[in-house]
Amino acid sequence: MTALDAPIVNIEGQLVALGPLRREHIPLYLRWINDFGTTRMLGLPPRPMTLEQETAWYERAAVDDAGTMFTIYERATGRPIGNCGLHEVDHHNRRTDVGIMIGEPDARGHGLGTEAMRLLLDYAFTVTGLHSVMLTVFEYNLAGRRCYEKVGFREIGRRRESRWYNGRFWDEISMDILASEFESPVLRRLLEPEGEKLRS
Ligand SMILES: CC(C)(COP(=O)(O)OP(=O)(O)OC[C@H]1O[C@@H](n2cnc3c(N)ncnc32)[C@H](O)[C@@H]1OP(=O)(O)O)[C@@H](O)C(=O)NCCC(=O)NCCS
Repeated sequence: MTALDAPIVNIEGQLVALGPLRREHIPLYLRWINDFGTTRMLGLPPRPMTLEQETAWYERAAVDDAGTMFTIYERATGRPIGNCGLHEVDHHNRRTDVGIMIGEPDARGHGLGTEAMRLLLDYAFTVTGLHSVMLTVFEYNLAGRRCYEKVGFREIGRRRESRWYNGRFWDEISMDILASEFESPVLRRLLEPEGEKLRS
């Protein structure tokens, strides 16, 4: 691997690291977003996505000032395994919605999504100074619900029977977390002003 191929990362955890979106990953995103096993968990219509649609999404996301998207890398292998991000950050009210997708099925169920969400919240609260973060998850997404609970999200309400899936309606669950309920795993220490370090 040359230095140019190496992942570019902003935030490093133990299992995963978060870095910017990269244009050369568009073919990967396209494969992830065409996996109906994955997209049944997302608020996307269950239909094929073309390279043109995915490239248009990338072009928008790559320059979107209202949100911040990250690539999730598995640290053990350096491979990109998914995306996560802040959507529609509201700086006046210091709140945002977030989303996550581990696109590689074999990377699920090993704690990577949970750590990626922790690092994303660290970015939201510690770097961006947000106060409230919310997400929605479908009732049948048990891995997602458990992952978010582990990070500290709690259920705040349900839009009942608003998701048609596998022959019946399911609830869409809203979950939130406040800055005061979150302990920074990485960034508070990393970004500590020099003066504070000298005092301790
Ligand atoms: C949801 C997602 C981000 C979770 O990431 P992950 O790396 O798979 O999750 P983790 O391994 O960190 O944690 C999953 C937890 O759910 C549990 N879990 C998994 N499947 C479960 C099931 N069917 N029932 C109950 N719990 C389940 C795991 O045991 C684990 O909990 P534990 O650590 O207490 O044992 C990931 O699976 C994913 O991206 N899925 C596809 C797209 C998606 O659902 N995106 C989110 C939309 S809201």
